[in-house]
Amino acid sequence: MKKIKDYYYKKAKEENYAARSVYKLQEIDKKYHLIKPGLKVIDIGCSPGSWSQLILKKIKNGLLIGIDISQRPAIKDSRFRFINEDILKMDIDSIKSIATTVDLILSDAAPKTTGDKFSDSQKSLRIVERVFDIANGILVPGGNVVAKVFQGEDLDQFINDKIKTRYAKIARYKPKSSRKESREIYIIALNKTDTMSDEQKVHT
Ligand SMILES: C[S@@+](CC[C@H](N)C(=O)[O-])C[C@H]1O[C@@H](n2cnc3c(N)ncnc32)[C@H](O)[C@@H]1O
Repeated sequence: MKKIKDYYYKKAKEENYAARSVYKLQEIDKKYHLIKPGLKVIDIGCSPGSWSQLILKKIKNGLLIGIDISQRPAIKDSRFRFINEDILKMDIDSIKSIATTVDLILSDAAPKTTGDKFSDSQKSLRIVERVFDIANGILVPGGNVVAKVFQGEDLDQFINDKIKTRYAKIARYKPKSSRKESREIYIIALNKTDTMSDEQKVHT
């Protein structure tokens, strides 16, 4: 990850957060009010752990499942469970062995960028597709998803074809703390409308 020591980097250090990314989630939650006490939450791409630190402060007696292909965040908290896997290869049963359903899925997962905008956005889209597959299988009706994506030409089609019909509202949000030069935005998918399929219910 590129380390530019800007205002948010310094603020994160002062406030003992593992990364400046926390302020993006803080802005998202200030606007959409998604993280609430008692919720079961998945944090995809959770390392080094700043989103998870903030989520744990807000969910009180809830549960947080963090997933990352790289190292475990340095978080010692009995409400935090970590799955060390690549979400593109992971079986959803790895999550279901911890929680049969969840209320909120947050993803800040991003591929390593190469500078090739097309290929980076395609890789990012593959991750987002997987995030919404996971949501199809484990998110409760009424549940919400926040997922980072690099803007690219296939994004509109993905939103229109794959997720618009399954959520009452879809928004795109670029937090102020997200660097202007970054192509990242967050898809905010609110209030999952469809019920789970019979196959999904068997597992719950
Ligand atoms: C920008 S960082 C997330 C920062 C985190 N939200 C925080 O606040 O500390 C992106 C993370 O996504 C993870 N990641 C990227 N591709 C992944 C994949 N296919 N499966 C799981 N994790 C992945 C990376 O290992 C990295 O830790």
